[in-house]
Amino acid sequence: MKEWPARLVLVGAGKMGGAMAIGWLDAGLPASSLAIREPKPSPEIAALAASRGVALNPQSAAPPDMLVLAIKPQNLDQVAPEIAALAAGNTLVLSIIAGKTIANLQARLPGARAFVRAMPNTPAAIGRGVTAAFASAEVNADQRRWCERLIGAVGAFFWLEDEGSIDAVTAISGSGPAYVFALTEALASAAEKLGLPRDLSMSLARGTVEGAAELMRRESATSPATLRQNVTSPGGTTAAALAVLKDARGLDDLMARATAAARARATEMAG
Ligand SMILES: NC(=O)c1ccc[n+]([C@@H]2O[C@H](COP(=O)([O-])OP(=O)(O)OC[C@H]3O[C@@H](n4cnc5c(N)ncnc54)[C@H](OP(=O)(O)O)[C@@H]3O)[C@@H](O)[C@H]2O)c1
Repeated sequence: MKEWPARLVLVGAGKMGGAMAIGWLDAGLPASSLAIREPKPSPEIAALAASRGVALNPQSAAPPDMLVLAIKPQNLDQVAPEIAALAAGNTLVLSIIAGKTIANLQARLPGARAFVRAMPNTPAAIGRGVTAAFASAEVNADQRRWCERLIGAVGAFFWLEDEGSIDAVTAISGSGPAYVFALTEALASAAEKLGLPRDLSMSLARGTVEGAAELMRRESATSPATLRQNVTSPGGTTAAALAVLKDARGLDDLMARATAAARARATEMAG
């Protein structure tokens, strides 16, 4: 079994692509295996290419073992014809482009047969992403392993049984970091309503979300429900708040409605 693709071309080294490239090299992908296509490389990417010997915008058009697409959806019309020659029968195409289906990518890159469509989230930029992906039937065992290792370099990775689940994943982990930021804002705003100064309110809210998330990470064998129960004395202050948060129109209902709206929008936008 081949540990890494012998040649990998990354198309688009912005926030997500750039973070992935750094994660891959740190995880052991040989720098000589990687080439990056990026019209406006950031200083970090230019420095990375220079210091580690990664090819930046090489002229060669030989199809690689793997082509990773990390461009914005609106750039795909322009970029697809530029890279079509790189997608050959043995090339695995891994796309993290939001909303672009495998059928769409296949039509644009007709030379390739094996496609993986993945949905990461922004904490991938600090190596703490959550990504779920769907593989077309043509993706072989080596190619699956490459995806697991490459995406695993920037966080947790899960396979999906059907491509349609990507829309639900988008609604949960793709958009999810924003929900946690919104929760932090809501907690800070509630603190102000209780009479605390603005700066202190935000410090308390941020610190609480950060600390609780870290605690949950360290206590990974304990369920969130148990962690919640551990800090909830019967008849106490936390119980008083949770009675409101968990009532019929409370947090569970709100999160179900919010994520249903996100999934519906993801399905509408997919194509
Ligand atoms: N950020 C997220 O949380 C997230 C989550 C899930 C999926 N995604 C998906 O990940 C993809 C990348 O997102 P991002 O946040 O990393 O965007 P980004 O920072 O804008 O990165 C996209 C990069 O592609 C470059 N590019 C444009 N035209 C190109 C070309 N002809 N050849 C090669 N590269 C080209 C862009 O360069 P310019 O700056 O010059 O345009 C930019 O550096 C998007 O499709 C997004 O849907 C992102």
